[in-house]
Amino acid sequence: MTAMLGLCNVLEQPAVSLFGLREGTFWLPPQRSTIAPAVDNLFYTLLGISAFFFLLILGLMTLFVIRYRYRPGVGPQSDVKHSTALEIFWSVIPLMIVTYIFYEGFVGYVQMRTVPDNAYEIEVVAGQWSWLFLYDGLEATELHVPADRPVRLVMRSDDVIHSLWIPDFRVKMDIVPGRKTETWFEAPWQGETSRHALKCTEYCGTNHSTMLATVVVHRQADFDAWLADARAKDQSKPAKERGEDIYNRYSCIQCHSIDGTMEVDGVEVVGPSFKGIWGETHEFSNAPDTEVDYEYLKESLFYPSEKIRRGYPDKMSSYKGRLSDEQIRYIKAFIESLKD
Ligand code: CUA
Repeated sequence: MTAMLGLCNVLEQPAVSLFGLREGTFWLPPQRSTIAPAVDNLFYTLLGISAFFFLLILGLMTLFVIRYRYRPGVGPQSDVKHSTALEIFWSVIPLMIVTYIFYEGFVGYVQMRTVPDNAYEIEVVAGQWSWLFLYDGLEATELHVPADRPVRLVMRSDDVIHSLWIPDFRVKMDIVPGRKTETWFEAPWQGETSRHALKCTEYCGTNHSTMLATVVVHRQADFDAWLADARAKDQSKPAKERGEDIYNRYSCIQCHSIDGTMEVDGVEVVGPSFKGIWGETHEFSNAPDTEVDYEYLKESLFYPSEKIRRGYPDKMSSYKGRLSDEQIRYIKAFIESLKD
């Protein structure tokens, strides 16, 4: 009963932690979501229980080792008797403890998995090695959210398994190719616009450690202003700049340079450069010579293995279903602009 009361307390006053950790500790970052105090409380409860039994068992063991050690005149005892009272005592108490842990864990799990109806929805696309946040079609590389409002993240991956983690919010959810996963949080207003780290926490290849982004928590009015501004900027963008955004955000940059070299930011890449290719006729190891035009670009994106440029590996994954015709036209504009 005490346990239940304790939990209800946590759920009803989510911004207040039993441990007063809102500003963070040596062990944990500050609590910046409504769920964070409950998560930390359960964590510290488990840590406390484990530490208590660790010390109890180790202490008794040390005591017994000294007290009952073998020495002249003291041998093994043969009159040890069964004690029902003791058996019940050390079975019932652990049972109560694990029941309490299960209860707390289950209630917290249900709360974390049940997205409130009024949640604001944002799509998240994870890819090697960047994050993309979609607001009704508008693409952003930072996750902007309104404060004091539940936010639902609907997440997908186009390549391998990633995992979204926002330590300040105590939110972590895997992103698995071929399915959508979701998570939600509500970030209370802190009196000012706040920024929080967002990380990929599933090893997803060479640059896993650079797969970072920022969460920006705005007041609702500021959030609306940010969204309107970002939309206006996006709509006035020339096609080639949109194409460049796609080049950066959809991982083209991981394999193709735009300066004619085989390096991007000093790192060696395996694909042919985009520079000066538009309108050229290329040779392929498995197909007749072809001119680089829109048809060829689209085929290369959707069916990369159909035409393998001579001298380069057959390594590219398909973008079929990931890029629209409109986006391919932006890429075309970008590549066309990379003349010499
Ligand atoms: Cu994505 Cu690690």
